[in-house]
Amino acid sequence: MLVLGIETSCDETAVGIVEDQLHLRANVIASQVDLHARYGGVVPEVAARAHLEQLLPTIDTALVQAGVHLSDIDAIAVTAGPGLVGALLVGVSAAKGLALAHDRPLIGVNHLRAHVEVAQLEHGMLEPPLVALVVSGGHTSIVAMGEDGTFRQLGATIDDAAGEAFDKIARFMGLGYPGGPEIDRLARDGDPHAFAFPRAMRDSGNYDLSLSGLKTAVIRELRRMDAAGEEPVLADVAASFQEAIVDVQVEKVLRAASDEGYEQVLLAGGVAANSRLRERFAVACGSNGQRLIVPSVGLCTDNGAMVAASGANLLVAGRHADLDLAVDPNLPLAG
Ligand code: KG4
Ligand code: ZN
Repeated sequence: MLVLGIETSCDETAVGIVEDQLHLRANVIASQVDLHARYGGVVPEVAARAHLEQLLPTIDTALVQAGVHLSDIDAIAVTAGPGLVGALLVGVSAAKGLALAHDRPLIGVNHLRAHVEVAQLEHGMLEPPLVALVVSGGHTSIVAMGEDGTFRQLGATIDDAAGEAFDKIARFMGLGYPGGPEIDRLARDGDPHAFAFPRAMRDSGNYDLSLSGLKTAVIRELRRMDAAGEEPVLADVAASFQEAIVDVQVEKVLRAASDEGYEQVLLAGGVAANSRLRERFAVACGSNGQRLIVPSVGLCTDNGAMVAASGANLLVAGRHADLDLAVDPNLPLAG
């Protein structure tokens, strides 16, 4: 059973092909990073136009990579939300066309669920219950995945998403876009304890997070050093900022897992590519006796394989979409 997955929710035109839910046959990404870098962030109109140009060639490349023809594909899966409306529409329109022309089922995929389910390609089918941290450019939440596969939100950021905080700080420091990987790289040479940046809501008694105060504190410190004529050691700033963001996430996720009595923790989304986050979770879960499930870096950031994997699960469950499948820019993970 071959499922082709199309991802166009943000700034990557991506296509993946998965066989029998578990086996990755192709994963091709046509990145738009260079197009958006000059603006310091994703420009929705530019993204939609680039998806339009790149999607069909990307599908062709994925078919070649998998060594199959379109007629061998059993279902077409596509991200229906959340994401940028114009960008989502390009993928969903193309998927409808392919499904109709080749008489194959169309499957609408939730991008956030796909970030979680991509783990099955490397770790086998998920065996919930587990607690997942879903962290990306537009989303940061801690969710419980129940035995029946449904999600229940335990907590979320009350302001900035983690990826957004990484990107904003990177932009302020004059680093490239996207900022997460730049800060990750720079922080390797820095002292994570050089600055005591705030860890907001640490003792809030719930699993919510707040990251905008941290962002403001970092910017204020950079401005203070600038005004005082001090040359900031950017690696130290990056490492200290990253440590603060990682600290609160490790603490809240592990507390959620132990409160729920769950023995598995899963990291998902672009920010789960962060090397310090992965390292700290590995240590913390190790000492708690919890199993940590984390996809390889290339499967954490947006990709087509995750859409194909999640689509394959829906196909098996008989959950096809109709040709009137609508995009939903605000599609929630839970509920
Ligand atoms: O999941 P994703 O690829 O796209 C969305 O669905 O938003 O996540 C993108 C976010 C960006 O904010 C990017 O800066 C961040 O993930 N990111 C990272 C790293 N790699 C990507 N953040 C921290 N460290 C990284 N290594
Ligand atoms: Zn994503």
